[in-house]
Amino acid sequence: MDRIPVELGTIQETLLITLAGRARESVKRKPILVDPKAADIMAALDNPSKKLTRGAGPDPSVLRTAIVDTWVREFLAAHPDGTVVEIGTGLNARFDRVDNGHVHWLDLDLPDTIALRRHFFTDTERRRMLVASVLDDSWYDTVSAQPGPYCFVAEGVLVYLPEADVRRALDNLAARFPHATVILDYYSPGMLRFQNRAADKGAMDARWAWTGGEPESFAAQGLRVTDARSITDPPPALRSTLPRSYRLALPVLHRVLPKGFGLAKFHTDRAR
Ligand SMILES: C[S@@+](CC[C@H](N)C(=O)[O-])C[C@H]1O[C@@H](n2cnc3c(N)ncnc32)[C@H](O)[C@@H]1O
Repeated sequence: MDRIPVELGTIQETLLITLAGRARESVKRKPILVDPKAADIMAALDNPSKKLTRGAGPDPSVLRTAIVDTWVREFLAAHPDGTVVEIGTGLNARFDRVDNGHVHWLDLDLPDTIALRRHFFTDTERRRMLVASVLDDSWYDTVSAQPGPYCFVAEGVLVYLPEADVRRALDNLAARFPHATVILDYYSPGMLRFQNRAADKGAMDARWAWTGGEPESFAAQGLRVTDARSITDPPPALRSTLPRSYRLALPVLHRVLPKGFGLAKFHTDRAR
């Protein structure tokens, strides 16, 4: 079979980092998540950037993804027929990991990413890809046409985009979709410096534009925090399933890095 070329913009190609992390994790003896497609996609890509895919040691982005999977499963337990919108989906197969047989799902990303994604994923009645930017509202009507309630997930996406544009987009989203769940990642200023220093040294071309914002600061955009936690403090439903090495190491790491690498879950409030 011909390999599939990777022709992506600078931010878009960062999807290879998380894809490669999930592929490596999935073949471990005791993985913290199994991505049913990541290894096959990696094998099918034509010479994907080594600096983005090589990775070494435990990958924090895999733990982040496992926490988001847990939160999305919790949303689906409460709202089995709702709709999940995966913003900046990349080549993530979250639908395949959490599908309950009822959920409706939209995988949203920029044109070049969706073009690549279409080599590996197909639209079905309950799952569709959507070409759009999170920063505009062209896709809101497509979401509204799906059954609510809604869960919007943006994992590893918003830090690359200008803060003012992201806040404007979240403000519009909260106004259009009251009573929705929103899941975002955020980082400490130290982690932002660390990340961009690594990029300066050649780890990647894309730069983070900001930390992703303190969760409480999004109250101004109509987002009320319902859970916010470091990835070193995973939700109980996930913690009990983690390999022993994680269960031993995470409390120690949590004392050192309590605010380095966080995830927040919000409810969009009508009352602002
Ligand atoms: C680090 S990757 C994360 C991909 C995926 N969420 C994951 O965890 O594997 C960043 C993703 O954000 C997407 N992206 C960048 N700018 C975007 C925008 N303005 N609107 C929607 N998606 C965007 C990229 O194409 C890429 O898929």
